[in-house]
Order: sequence, then C-alpha cells, then structure tokens
Amino acid sequence: MGDCGLEMARAYRKPGQDAPQASTDGLVKPDRFRAALSRFVTGVTVITVQTAEGGVHGMTANAFCSVSLRPPLVLVCVDHLAETYLHLRECGRFGVSVLKAEQDAFSEYFADPERNPDSARRLGIRYREMESGWPVLEDALANLDCRIVAQYQAGDHTIFVGEVREAALGEGEPLLYFRGRYGVNDAQDK
Ligand SMILES: Cc1cc2nc3c(=O)[nH]c(=O)nc-3n(C[C@H](O)[C@H](O)[C@H](O)COP(=O)(O)O)c2cc1C
Repeated sequence: MGDCGLEMARAYRKPGQDAPQASTDGLVKPDRFRAALSRFVTGVTVITVQTAEGGVHGMTANAFCSVSLRPPLVLVCVDHLAETYLHLRECGRFGVSVLKAEQDAFSEYFADPERNPDSARRLGIRYREMESGWPVLEDALANLDCRIVAQYQAGDHTIFVGEVREAALGEGEPLLYFRGRYGVNDAQDK
C-alpha cells in the first residue's frame, strides 16, 4: 500500500477499531485471528459418530454450515487432534444435533476431551436414533443424518461435506456462541 492508501486506511478506521496487526510472515497473528473470528456469532452443534466398538461419540462444533440445497449438503470442520476426526474417517457418516439455548452444559461436556460418562448422565444427555439408526442427541433444536461425500484437508482441520439423508425438527431457542461465551448479551471484552 502506498502512502496514499495508508492514509485512507487510517481515515476509514472507525473509533474503537485498532490497527490491523500482521506477523512477520504476512499472516495475521493467531490471537488476533481468534479474537476476530470469535466476533462472528454462531449456533452450536454436537456432531455424533458411531465408534468401531458400537458406542456413540460426540463433539461440540460451531464450524458448521449449510453448503447446498440440491443436493442437500452441509459441512463441518474438524481438528486433526480431535478423537472425532478419526471416527469420521472410519465411519463415513455423522449426525448433527443443533443445541437449544438451555443446553450450554451439553456443549461444554462434548467439548471436554476428558469427559466423564457419569457427567453425561447427571446432565441428562440422552441419545436417540434417526430412521437409519444413526445416533443423535435427544431433545435438540434440529437433527441431521449425514453421509460424508467429500473431505478436504485445510490447515490443521479437515472439512467434511455431508449429504443430508434425514432432518428432524424440534422447538425452542438456539444456543448462541459469541466471543468465547454462550449467548450474546453478557459478552465482555476478553
Ligand atoms: C463452542 C465450541 C465450538 C467448537 N467447535 C469446534 C469445531 O467446529 N471443530 C472442532 O474441531 N472443534 C471444535 N471445538 C472443540 C472440540 O469440541 C473439542 O476439541 C473436543 O474436545 C473434541 O472432542 P473429541 O476429541 O472427543 O473428538 C469447539 C468447542 C466449543 C466449546
């Protein structure tokens, strides 16, 4: 950017919006990246898979979105360090449960890599089967049954694209996630 461009960028910067920060390799710094992306409000889902042993494993995910209407496709981005990543590669399918506003404890449970199944019972987490028999969370705002039709490695995550076979609808308010907290009203500077 020449001097003129720099002046324009300064002029257009709004109050409270501080200078863009770049690390020496030209990429935004990880903390800055996280802080910016945390300002993009999302819903919260739990991705469910069946394990090779016949159990159910779940993972909290907000990197989830719709991709296509015809055919009906969604995507979820999964960290290569997540146990769920290995299950997804093995089973080729996943369930999606969209959480309700009062289910923030469910989100925390499925985000804990050292979760204790006793806590699931205490929290009242229950599974049910879609028509195909695939497990999803009971009492969710919506459930999807997805077959993986494509996967793309992207940095330290893989984007799994799922073709939606069945959708179930619930009623209630959505659980929102904003600036590292649940809900949008009590978000504070972090
Ligand atoms: C609100 C929230 C959203 C998350 N979204 C994602 C996500 O989209 N992708 C991901 O890989 N991890 C995400 N995580 C982190 C995983 O839930 C966490 O690493 C979990 O322990 C993975 O479980 P697993 O190792 O049993 O598969 C999120 C965590 C929280 C609290």
